[in-house]
Amino acid sequence: MQRIGFIGIGLMGRHMARHLLDAGYPLTIWNRSEEKARDLLAAGASWADSPKGVAQAADVVITMVTDSSASEQVICGTGGVLEGTRVGTILIDMGSIAPEMSRSIAGRAREKGVPMLDAPVTGNPKVAQAGKLGIMVGGPRETFEKCGPLFDILAAKIVYVGEQNGMGTTLKLINNLILGVAIEAVSEAMVLSAKVGIDPQKVIDITSVGGARTGAMETRGPRMLKRDFSPGFSTDNMYKDLSSVIKLGDEYGVCLPATSTTWDILRAAKSRGNGGMDSCCVLTVLEDLAQTQVKATGS
Ligand SMILES: NC(=O)c1ccc[n+]([C@@H]2O[C@H](COP(=O)([O-])OP(=O)(O)OC[C@H]3O[C@@H](n4cnc5c(N)ncnc54)[C@H](OP(=O)(O)O)[C@@H]3O)[C@@H](O)[C@H]2O)c1
Repeated sequence: MQRIGFIGIGLMGRHMARHLLDAGYPLTIWNRSEEKARDLLAAGASWADSPKGVAQAADVVITMVTDSSASEQVICGTGGVLEGTRVGTILIDMGSIAPEMSRSIAGRAREKGVPMLDAPVTGNPKVAQAGKLGIMVGGPRETFEKCGPLFDILAAKIVYVGEQNGMGTTLKLINNLILGVAIEAVSEAMVLSAKVGIDPQKVIDITSVGGARTGAMETRGPRMLKRDFSPGFSTDNMYKDLSSVIKLGDEYGVCLPATSTTWDILRAAKSRGNGGMDSCCVLTVLEDLAQTQVKATGS
């Protein structure tokens, strides 16, 4: 059985690593903040003192950290994964990072005989806990096929995008374009309903059927009413992803007006110190602009 290394025991990573451990794979982990690894260690995972140590103990190394610079640091930095790999070690980067960084890291890994897959995910911590993520994969098909059993443990849907690294992370950006804009649209709908005197719960109710039905309302609408902005997917992370989407649009000359507006509102939420909150806190920015507050009235 392949020995797995897992780096990045955050909101998502902790559930993903747990599934692999529960499936019987020998698991070695590292996280920048050691305390977050406690539960996994108690469940039977081993600790390594660095990403390099993880790679030395593993046949497949999975990284699940915040962004491009974090992935680069844990994989290519001092004490990083590539200092501990052997020829043939497989690297899977599952964070949502910029496609150009996926390609750059893959190039540096290839020089060491390490094939890499960029395999970001859709879902949220609850979906990760249920083992029902969506995974989209760029990189060599042969490596993808070798990793199929691992992806099967984590995912309800796996989409192989293409041989070229960065294709997985590009599809992820396209996915998050829809999610970010949908959450912003849901926020606008909730603010408008509050302002015109319709109980926002009724917006949730009516959009549970029909063409306006959206996962953004299903997951975020009830949270908005409870004013629960605890992070499922943070404003910082959504802002990061839409920044990359806008860059991609710029590169290919594609006009993305709704994405640009959403990105700006996320920036406002960040400027108010809310980057750590769930990205549905864009609601609060729109509430202030409209001078209203969304709450269920029961009427
Ligand atoms: N949450 C979601 O709903 C969701 C859904 C799909 C995809 N994603 C993507 O999945 C990735 C992880 O997200 P998450 O929600 O699990 O985030 P998170 O809870 O903030 O976890 C981020 C992880 O990255 C580590 N990290 C950050 N910067 C680092 C650095 N410079 N060096 C080493 N480690 C570093 C953190 O370590 P510490 O514990 O020390 O901070 C933590 O383990 C992101 O790319 C995100 O966009 C998230």
